[in-house]
Amino acid sequence: MAVTTILQCSLLIFFFSVAGINARRPFACDPANTAVKGLPFCNVHLPVADRVRDLLRRLTFKEKLGLLVDKATAVPRLGIDDYEWWSEALHGVSNVGPGTRFGGDFPGATAFPQVITTAASFNTSLWEEIGRVVSDEARAMFNGGVAGLTYWSPNINIFRDPRWGRGQETPGEDPIVAGEYASRYVRGLQGNLPGDRLKVAACCKHYTAYDLDNWSGTNRFHFNAKVSKQEMVDTFEVPFRQCVMQGKVASVMCSYNQVNGIPTCADPRLLRDTIRGAWRLNGYIVSDCDSVGVFYDNQHYTATPEEAAADAIKAGLDLDCGPFLALHTQGAVDRGLLKETDVDSALFNTLTVQMRLGMFDGEPSSQIFGNLGPQDVCTPGNQELALEAARQGIVLLKNHGPSLPLSPRRHRTVAVIGPNSDVTVTMIGNYAGIACGYTTPLQGISRYTKTIHGPGCPNVECRNAHLFDDAIHAAHQADATVLIMGLDQSIEAEFKDRDGLLLPGYQQELVSKVSAASKGPTILVIMSGGPVDVSFAEHDPRIGAIVWVGYPGQAGGAAIADVLFGTHNPGGKLPMTWYHQNYLTKVPMTTMDMRSNHVTGYPGRTYRFYKGPVVYPFGHGLSYSNFIHTLVSAPKMFTVPVDGRHKNTTAATNTVRVTHAKCGGLSIGLQVDVRNVGSKDGSHTMLVYSTPPVGHWGPHKQLVAFAKVHVPARTQLRVPINIHVCKFFSVVDKSGIRRIPMGQHSLHIGDVKHLLSIQSTPLGFE
Ligand SMILES: *[C@@H]1O[C@H](CO)[C@@H](O)[C@H](O)[C@H]1NC(C)=O
Ligand SMILES: *[C@@H]1O[C@H](CO)[C@@H](O)[C@H](O)[C@H]1NC(C)=O
Ligand SMILES: *[C@@H]1O[C@H](CO)[C@@H](O)[C@H](O)[C@H]1NC(C)=O
Repeated sequence: MAVTTILQCSLLIFFFSVAGINARRPFACDPANTAVKGLPFCNVHLPVADRVRDLLRRLTFKEKLGLLVDKATAVPRLGIDDYEWWSEALHGVSNVGPGTRFGGDFPGATAFPQVITTAASFNTSLWEEIGRVVSDEARAMFNGGVAGLTYWSPNINIFRDPRWGRGQETPGEDPIVAGEYASRYVRGLQGNLPGDRLKVAACCKHYTAYDLDNWSGTNRFHFNAKVSKQEMVDTFEVPFRQCVMQGKVASVMCSYNQVNGIPTCADPRLLRDTIRGAWRLNGYIVSDCDSVGVFYDNQHYTATPEEAAADAIKAGLDLDCGPFLALHTQGAVDRGLLKETDVDSALFNTLTVQMRLGMFDGEPSSQIFGNLGPQDVCTPGNQELALEAARQGIVLLKNHGPSLPLSPRRHRTVAVIGPNSDVTVTMIGNYAGIACGYTTPLQGISRYTKTIHGPGCPNVECRNAHLFDDAIHAAHQADATVLIMGLDQSIEAEFKDRDGLLLPGYQQELVSKVSAASKGPTILVIMSGGPVDVSFAEHDPRIGAIVWVGYPGQAGGAAIADVLFGTHNPGGKLPMTWYHQNYLTKVPMTTMDMRSNHVTGYPGRTYRFYKGPVVYPFGHGLSYSNFIHTLVSAPKMFTVPVDGRHKNTTAATNTVRVTHAKCGGLSIGLQVDVRNVGSKDGSHTMLVYSTPPVGHWGPHKQLVAFAKVHVPARTQLRVPINIHVCKFFSVVDKSGIRRIPMGQHSLHIGDVKHLLSIQSTPLGFE
């Protein structure tokens, strides 16, 4: 009998691996399992909450402990498999988490550009579309038994400091752009399905004030971020709030660092009161990997591991990435630090998400995404979207002359130089998977014209000049020179913040030598996540154009070539400030303040607060066309209705507390004409900024709306823009209270300025 069973099993495995799809047996509630037939938790017709409660009643306490961790143990008695919660899909299905692996029917997945690049497109529908495609591929891989359904992406921390090694993973420095990115990408991933169902479960991380990995002796496992109430509400919380409230994300991850002396994963005010209380998270809260262990072992925040386990669960943590809670929760209950019902509340949240994903519905093949399989991964359409995303994310920083676009007719040979000129995995950045395939920059350019290749440096560190001569020789022979320089994960990465902002090693010298020898125009392409101080090239008249491509994904080389040769008109804008190197001397990475301080000489951070000189500002990005804005209509005056009981505080501070205003639906409408006065069709991002009246606590300038529009050459488009008044015209006071300043707010759209006077009127509120 044993022999027969083994034979049957191997036949089954053989059958499934040939069939490819639906190789995963049901995670739970297998219709073939008579032991669970008819049990309420398997009954798809009951409300999810009832099914979860039924399951919780059946689990022993020991079984529950095994479900508190990412490597959730099986409960064979109830027909429930083990499950690995940790998968990643930052910009494509990734194998960074142990829940996902490539191979067999799934050798790779579409590798989209790194998030900082995609953010530069400022195209909200693109962000959602990428999420949709990534979750198609994720579901297909889940059906094939090689991936999970819980993805700990996106990373929406503010790109606060230009040195941060993980800034590349984020949508940049602006809280509103980050929040919009978060909610759009999450909606794309989770499928925006009716009735609370989830295609996959996304996770916004890392909550909160997490944006330092390892800088000058301080690392993320020990860092205590000192954040004022004002900065917390004004900056760090904004994307998370939007991710939960608008994006309806199914999970939030707390971070390794402490905020004001408390590890975020042990802080009930952050987890229980804010994420679950104020924002009403419908989902689970997970720790960063081993962060409960980290606050006990590294930070010595509690005296015993049992206290650490109890603190985390009581603060509102539902799932531990790492074994800590499985090991120490029993002890915490034995010592009276925690009750079994606390554990039940945590499991209620995780099991609910698994049920919303359909994991307790039996056969995956009978579910709505059950037919997705290997044929849905790396499809031509998906790979085309990766190429399109790269094109849209590329930013033209300088175009003197203009030197770009190049023309295959005039530039019959192009010298392609630089350590990033023929790279593959560099283009996908970190938290990537295995790409479907690559087009390197050299290959992309070779599709347009003849190339002469000379890397010039052996790698981005570029520690010597041994390869310079070949590169200089190539530039001397060719009709144009393209230098593809920049960084990679050896310079900026998780665990690795940068010390400076200049190009590493001898890169700058290579650029200068090659441009001096170049017969035709010299184009500098920077491949990097974080900003690079390229002021030497900005000022060098021999360098005709500078292009930033971020980490442009698997098709990056094709997109770069399409931009250089003008088959795509670049429309990307920088999602972060490009500072000068000397900015860093006044800004310790450990100082969390965004606001400048004239007493200490601290210059402030990001375009919102830093007013000093920059290499390129936030929002910078040129096109092969020119776009002109005309304001067609905008209100000059706006009146905010206020609860009459608060009219005195309004008068005293000359502000209206957002919670005292009747905010619902309060918005102002603008109409702007965008005219493309160039000879090429192009997409243009309209960035609308507001400067609040002086004398308040606001940034000197804040993005309040953005819209990306396609405008054919020599035509004009009327763009309507609505701005929610309470959300975007408010500032945050020193106690962390959001208020709308009364008086003149100044709106700027490119060169157009408009004054908007905001007043209040008391109303009797019911
Ligand atoms: C931080 O960086 C230092 C020096 O660069 C290195 O020795 C150390 O291992 C790093 N620490 C972590 C936690 O990555
Ligand atoms: C508002 O201020 C007036 C005059 O200063 C005062 O008489 C009145 O009691 C105040 N009302 C409230 C509701 O505080
Ligand atoms: C935004 O991206 C989508 C998807 O690629 C594309 O169809 C659309 O044209 C883009 N919008 C603009 C204005 O470029």
